[in-house]
Amino acid sequence: MKDDIHGYIAEINKVEVKTKDDLELFRIRFLGKKGIIPALFAGMKEIEPAQRKDTGLLLNALKNRVQEKIDEAKTILDKTGDKGVEKPDLTMPVGFRETGSLHPLTIVRNEIVRIFERLGFSIAEGPEIEDDWYNFTALNFVPEHPARDMQDTFFIGRDPDIMLRTHTSSVQIRFMEKTKPPIRVILPGRVFRNEAISARAHCIFHQIEGLYVDEDVSFADLKQTLYFFATELFGPETRIRFRPSYFPFTEPSAEMDISCFICGGKGCRVCKNSGWVEILGCGMVDPNVLDNCNIDSSKYTGFAFGLGIERTAMLKYQINDIRLFFENDIRFLKQFAGEY
Ligand code: PHE
Repeated sequence: MKDDIHGYIAEINKVEVKTKDDLELFRIRFLGKKGIIPALFAGMKEIEPAQRKDTGLLLNALKNRVQEKIDEAKTILDKTGDKGVEKPDLTMPVGFRETGSLHPLTIVRNEIVRIFERLGFSIAEGPEIEDDWYNFTALNFVPEHPARDMQDTFFIGRDPDIMLRTHTSSVQIRFMEKTKPPIRVILPGRVFRNEAISARAHCIFHQIEGLYVDEDVSFADLKQTLYFFATELFGPETRIRFRPSYFPFTEPSAEMDISCFICGGKGCRVCKNSGWVEILGCGMVDPNVLDNCNIDSSKYTGFAFGLGIERTAMLKYQINDIRLFFENDIRFLKQFAGEY
């Protein structure tokens, strides 16, 4: 690395920065996000400890030299103006370029995934086309369960065994078939339900599933994990509450509400004056589901949860129509530019 740095210093001494464009190129080449200086700093961790101090000093000298060169060139360009012109014409329209930005669903998905990554969860995905075993049977849906009804599920062709997955819970099964405990995984994906499209519901939406299986996993672990998640995503004041619910694949099952982050629980339009908003479904993995995946349910327990990304994004950004996510209207998407 030292040789490289000496090379760059020699280059800086030789190179001529004559115009503002030259200056900008020079600045980007050395100091830009993907420039030489950040790359060299990133490389410092590969340097042997004995060499680190000397290399660091040299690297700082290079950085100072770059800054000096920029300052020199600026002083001269400020006096002469670019390309010999005394002063730039300030009435000229600026070169305007639109840049793309992440879709709000991607932003929220990434944010949620990052929170769980910090707790040691890994991330995995599964197929959107599923068979009855993964989408229903292995998840403990009895044959006559109403969710299997044609009303909800898009079957493919006439085969009642092949369908578009109705939830990401199918990926729990795929993951547990392949991986044995301890399991800590987040499973994001697109899901499909045969529902009438309205401001509140769409036939395509996204979920994030979470699964944690190990020895001695309890409901307290579920609560603490989801409490951490809620405070990270919606702020440290956030409170959570659980309401009993039912899912075939968890027992006991619950729905989790968060205290309304708009009004703090006093009551407003977002929480429909209740002070609480529903955010996800969760529960302890039903022992039948573990057994279906050849995981010994007398030894292991687990919890699972699933949340809708659209719903979460709608709450977070106060978007009142789910259809906006899929219309790709630039005026809508633009509002999220600059979020990460
Ligand atoms: N799969 C459920 C749904 O689609 C959510 C859920 C996931 C509930 C995991 C409990 C555990 O709504």
